[in-house]
Amino acid sequence: MSHSAFRPALGMLLALLSPLLLAATPTPVGNSTTPLRNGTEIRDGSTLLRVTALSDDILRVRVAANGRFGEDASWVVSAEARGQSVEVQPLPGKASGFRTRHLSVEIARLPLRLIVRNAAGELVVADAIDRPFTWHDGAFTVRKALTAHEHIVGLGDKAGPLDRRGEEFVDWNTDAYLYQESSDPLYKSVPFYISVGAPGGSYGLYLDNTWRTWFDLGKRDPDAIEFGAPAGALEYYLIYGPTARQVVEGYTLLTGRPSLPPLWSLGYQQSRYSYMSADEVRGIASRMRHERIPADVIWLDIDYQDRNRPFTTNKATFPDLAQLAHDVGAQGFKLVAITDLHIADLPNQGYAPYDSGIAGDQFVKRPDGSRYVAEVWPGASLFPDFTRATTRDWWGGLYKEFIASGIAGFWNDMNEPAIFRTESKTMPLDTVHRIEEPGFATRSATHAEIHNIYGMQNTRATFDGEARLAPNERPYVMTRASFAGGQRYAVTWTGDNSSTWNHLRMVVPMLLNLGMSGFAYSGADVGGYAGQPTPELLTRWDEIAAFTPVFRAHSAKGSVGKEPWHDGPEQTAIRRRFIEERYRLLPYIYSLADLNARTGAPLMRPVFFDYPDSITAGCDQSTDFLLGAAMLIAPPPNLEDPAPYRICLPEGRWYDYWSGAAVVADTTLTAGWNDQSKSVVVTATPALNELPVFVRAGTILPRQPLIQSTSETPNGPLTLEVYPGDDCHGTLYLDDGHSQAYRQGHYLRQRIRCLTTADGLVVTFETRAGDYRPWWPSIDVVIHGWDGAASAQVGALTPSVESNAALHVVRVAIPDQPQVADVVVRHATAAR
Ligand code: GLC
Repeated sequence: MSHSAFRPALGMLLALLSPLLLAATPTPVGNSTTPLRNGTEIRDGSTLLRVTALSDDILRVRVAANGRFGEDASWVVSAEARGQSVEVQPLPGKASGFRTRHLSVEIARLPLRLIVRNAAGELVVADAIDRPFTWHDGAFTVRKALTAHEHIVGLGDKAGPLDRRGEEFVDWNTDAYLYQESSDPLYKSVPFYISVGAPGGSYGLYLDNTWRTWFDLGKRDPDAIEFGAPAGALEYYLIYGPTARQVVEGYTLLTGRPSLPPLWSLGYQQSRYSYMSADEVRGIASRMRHERIPADVIWLDIDYQDRNRPFTTNKATFPDLAQLAHDVGAQGFKLVAITDLHIADLPNQGYAPYDSGIAGDQFVKRPDGSRYVAEVWPGASLFPDFTRATTRDWWGGLYKEFIASGIAGFWNDMNEPAIFRTESKTMPLDTVHRIEEPGFATRSATHAEIHNIYGMQNTRATFDGEARLAPNERPYVMTRASFAGGQRYAVTWTGDNSSTWNHLRMVVPMLLNLGMSGFAYSGADVGGYAGQPTPELLTRWDEIAAFTPVFRAHSAKGSVGKEPWHDGPEQTAIRRRFIEERYRLLPYIYSLADLNARTGAPLMRPVFFDYPDSITAGCDQSTDFLLGAAMLIAPPPNLEDPAPYRICLPEGRWYDYWSGAAVVADTTLTAGWNDQSKSVVVTATPALNELPVFVRAGTILPRQPLIQSTSETPNGPLTLEVYPGDDCHGTLYLDDGHSQAYRQGHYLRQRIRCLTTADGLVVTFETRAGDYRPWWPSIDVVIHGWDGAASAQVGALTPSVESNAALHVVRVAIPDQPQVADVVVRHATAAR
């Protein structure tokens, strides 16, 4: 028998035998416990469970229904992060489980379930007794017990209240134009939540599964958190606190942190759909300067392109992008340009992205192998296959000309991906992506598996492309769609919101939850994208957004626009004042950016992030927020309601940011389940030109002279606003604001402390790290809550001192303090 003649016969034989062959490699079953150096592996019937400790606080949990784990690969948690491990100790008195230095992990049987306690034996999280894991046709559900005092935050881009307890959500990146508070899913998917308030402290859970995952946070069963996916691995990470801050730190250790953004991106940014010509852009730049409204960025939406085709420009209306970037650059503006991922399907027309994309076979396919074509802004379009490293390289290279033209950053929109004229608003689930990626087995995957990470891979390609093309600059990408870990590549915004009071109210909890989900740089279109705000609404929006990480006004086509000068001089003056305040605070905001890059702590955070006890103090925390630990912003909970409202400040002393006066509490509220936590209650009466902002006693807040954009060097001294109190400190961080030189030590970081003494106050400058030379020639130390005259001493120097009885401050003018130094300030009566 020849070889070829044998083949069909062998095929038939194999077909006949296949049930038997399968039986020959059965699903492993049994009942065993295998202690591992860094955890435990359990077999329970056909279920295989492995719990390992990546650190003393982070556990990796893998569960397989068929006795075998799938591929060890992740788009989110790097191999390096997954490879971490610590040695564990046996769990005394338990058949299975282990101890780390901070956690005890018990694996109980009948049913198989995981119980995690802290070192004191208090419960952190346990699987539900009833059906902890269930499988059905590849889909799985996990149930965890939800205890009485837990609050749930996280899950990224979801509307609704800060506390997600009692609700259910689906993760499926969706172009959600005109979304409302009850709309779900939205643009981004972050299958990660944080539980705050469990007896043993906070924990986070990240489900490392890219499919259409879902979370029920006590809705169906008030005593359970349920989550699951229709397919893919049952694999998750438990990240122990005990504080929410530690959870976010651990989560961003696993999934990555944003790198330090360019300083200009922290300024005010002006956008609309669209500035229709280079002349209109020049007009916006000039008007900003003429109105003396500080601003750093103007955004180019799709109309700068030739017929909406990505990586082209409309030669009639934007004849010379490089000249435009140069001209507005001379006025202190950067340009950010949109580059959507849909490549117009234009054979034989000299459209370079199409031609090079076809040549490199860069586009996703239908199941029959033909290219998937669908309509978006440019008409019929093709979609890059971003799960291939080579496709990402090709995409990144498309930015060459724009970067050479001086475009400073890029906007990746419509990357859910959004598709027009289809009910699902996206690609069919059977569209084929190829995974050709270091660390992954090469294979094809359906859109159902890739959909949620598609936008993140788009931004990864853009980020890496920018980094390659301009290696000494900081890449800047803004994205609409993303996934867990996407914070490594892009900042984000909350998509197409509306010009309503309710949408403004939604901003704070949405941005807080994004920050708790790793996305420290997020913003909402100021003024609302769809519709026209009333003058009061746009003014309020500018006021609140001035304290949020991404401060960008944007507006739909056909609207009047959300530039601050609409609605007359009175409204403009209020808006200008808040934008100016943002610029004065940039030294503080930039120090928070540095902290975020190093620890993952979001710039804008819920009050309990820095004041964990406050969560039990009976105050609603869904409208207040912190900018860093030092500043608490308290907009009216009902924004358009003129009625007085109650503000709860965490226990301790506070100062009014605007007046500098110490806060006098109306009452002290003692509340919470243990009656231990207190908060300071003050009453505020809303006024359109005011936004209550408080500073924690014990803060040193750096501020700078007013500038019109970050391209200007501030003129005058740096001010350190000192608000005396316990644990009094502040941090300075500075670098050139745009390059990678800070990674080579060309930065300035300095901690400053203050101590109240019997006769005054000592401000201590610690050693300055890094070799960056600051712009400030001198420092004004302004001490709040000071009555009477004062004298001061820095080493041998007697600096000039000026006190202001009405403001209760004393100002001490000192030279810059690069070295360790004490500034000793004494009440005049006590001065020697
Ligand atoms: C999408 C974006 C919006 C943008 C528009 C045109 O709707 O969400 O911000 O202006 O597309 O590019």
